[in-house]
Amino acid sequence: MPSTLNIAMPDDWHLHLRSGEMLAKVLPFTSQHFSRAIVMPNLPSPVVTTAGAIAYRQEILSYLPKAHQFTPLMVLYLTEKTDPDDVRAGFLSGDISAVKLYPAGATTNSDAGVNDLEKIYPVLEIMEEIGLPFLVHGEVVDAEIDIFDREAVFIDTKLSPIRARFPKLRIVFEHLTTKEGVDYVLSCAENTAATITPHHLVINRNAMLVGGIKPHYYCLPVAKREHHRLALKAAATSGDSRFFMGTDSAPHLSHAKESSCGCAGIFNVANAIAVVTQVFDNENALDQLEKFLSLNGANFYQLAVNEQKMTLTRSNKAIAIPEDIKTSAGKVTAFDPMMDVYWDVTG
Ligand code: NCD
Ligand code: ZN
Repeated sequence: MPSTLNIAMPDDWHLHLRSGEMLAKVLPFTSQHFSRAIVMPNLPSPVVTTAGAIAYRQEILSYLPKAHQFTPLMVLYLTEKTDPDDVRAGFLSGDISAVKLYPAGATTNSDAGVNDLEKIYPVLEIMEEIGLPFLVHGEVVDAEIDIFDREAVFIDTKLSPIRARFPKLRIVFEHLTTKEGVDYVLSCAENTAATITPHHLVINRNAMLVGGIKPHYYCLPVAKREHHRLALKAAATSGDSRFFMGTDSAPHLSHAKESSCGCAGIFNVANAIAVVTQVFDNENALDQLEKFLSLNGANFYQLAVNEQKMTLTRSNKAIAIPEDIKTSAGKVTAFDPMMDVYWDVTG
């Protein structure tokens, strides 16, 4: 069994960096271990234009530690008013790497998202033509649909019709959480892919609900039953080119999660690579790790694989759970995977 691995430097294909002090505090955890990240645009005032994305990228780069090389890949937040010409211009200038669909009300800062999918068809038409990836938060928001079923229902009622209408559209089903989602992606052609988070590979809904309510395991889409986790793990460790890691690291102040109405999101980026490597090791699938962390996503986004390398080392002692982050407004709790992790990034 190897105790050292060398892989191409990973990228994070789904990341929340926030802004201001929180951005300053969380960014170094990403920029030390990832070359690039798809940066989610769901700020309190969302990133809805190319000009807004350029300004946000400037803010991110202003906080980048000098010793780190990191490229934020910017994403437009889709609204019913998004201008197709701005999307095309942002793509052509290289400032926009993708466009994200948030069904209105589905998750953090999604109120400005989309209610009526037909209203975004003109944008999707352009995206299909130019090959710009369409990133999907795949959950319906209907009050009568159980929260544990919202991803599966989204596939049947929303995503399938979009794919039928725009067969060449390049789609990323973000933060997949169900077996139905895995099966759906596998049934599609190569232009549909999916991100999978570290936490959905290691927790099921018991983590959140057994022995007391555990708000630091609450995220959206919410963790499901064990058989869904097993399907996600099988997909990630298979090496199939359609699956790649997006951490969905989503920092919130701990007191906003430990609340009578706690917000959704897990801050996992500090141990994301270590946890995923341990999952692959436990499955005897370390030979597929580089595909999931460093190759499949770059290929899907039609970017060169990073030339820089990363070294991972397995030790005999389990690594510690990362420390909380301190901000002037309070702390951010880091992800505890509730399993022993012996791998860590060492170079
Ligand atoms: C994300 C956030 O807080 O921005 N939360 C989460 O639980 N994943 C939003 C999202 O990706 O749904
Ligand atoms: Zn997210």
